[in-house]
Amino acid sequence: MQGQLTTIEDHIIQCQHEHPTATGEFSWLLSGITLATRIISAQVRRAGLNDILGETGMTNVQGEIVQKLDTLANETIATCLGYRENVGIMVSEEDDEPRILKEPSAKAKYIVLFDPLDGSSNIDVNVSIGTIFSILQCRDGIASGRSLDHILQPGARQIAAGYVIYSSSTVMAYTAGSGVHMFTLDPSIGAFRLQRENVVMPKSGKTYSINEAYRMQFPKGIQNYLDWVKTDEAGDYGLRYIGSLVADFHRTLLHGGVFLYPPTKKAPHGKLRLLYEASPLAFIAEQAGGAATDGNKRILDKVPTKLHERTPLIIGSKAEVDRVLSFWKL
Ligand code: AHG
Ligand code: MN
Ligand code: MN
Repeated sequence: MQGQLTTIEDHIIQCQHEHPTATGEFSWLLSGITLATRIISAQVRRAGLNDILGETGMTNVQGEIVQKLDTLANETIATCLGYRENVGIMVSEEDDEPRILKEPSAKAKYIVLFDPLDGSSNIDVNVSIGTIFSILQCRDGIASGRSLDHILQPGARQIAAGYVIYSSSTVMAYTAGSGVHMFTLDPSIGAFRLQRENVVMPKSGKTYSINEAYRMQFPKGIQNYLDWVKTDEAGDYGLRYIGSLVADFHRTLLHGGVFLYPPTKKAPHGKLRLLYEASPLAFIAEQAGGAATDGNKRILDKVPTKLHERTPLIIGSKAEVDRVLSFWKL
């Protein structure tokens, strides 16, 4: 399907014989996400010309100061998904509680979980930011009204997951369980066009990505790893840290290496959120041949106990993730 103009909606429909979830209904849901991210992309491109820079003066459930673009992205996604009759529940990093659009039913069977704007600290300095999404299916036979029973599922149950990175171009990567596929937004036609199918993460890579400012707060094993990468034995490792998870992950997916956000004294369970940051990216990483763990457990096997649960995250090339674990679990 390379070369010709294949939009993401076409791609889902053309692949639907490969996996049951990619039905027209799923394509309709995904088009709600692509519409929202096209609107967000247009706003990001005009940041500084329109009134979307800076803070709202509010603090969210995460205890973080909410940027104007966080709110705009959140409401844009909520509005675009609200029109999709097959979406029952929405979960957002920016919302204290789930939004029950419709009682879960055979029709309203999807749950969409998202980080509407990842990398908020980078918005005002024109550095790459992104949106991360995860799609679950409501569980059968659960009494309606108990939304958390539907939501708190392990990442291995995701129907699909993806991210959009707003950078020099706007790129969307998604998986529905049959490989990772990448699309670039073509502003001249307002559609995401197929760029790469079945993206494979390099098996190894000498780039590590971590905020070393917290070194003294990391577990000893992580500190030992950070010492090792600088030795002659390790060879020429490089450090890249953008501070937007989506951007650091996108680079890792394409060039290999490992991203680490270990526990710190300030964030003893890690900073990143399981449901709408770690799980969706772990699904993509594994579909591309990589790995994702919290240091003890495969991210996709973790059963969340609360909506905004945080987790340590080590994600990237399998050989690099295993190497980090070999130091951490000494
Ligand atoms: P968000 O903007 O959605 O809150 O996410 C920010 C996250 C993630 O994007 C990034 O990897 C991490 O915060 C950076 O944290 P530090 O500034 O502590 O390094
Ligand atoms: Mn985030
Ligand atoms: Mn965010």
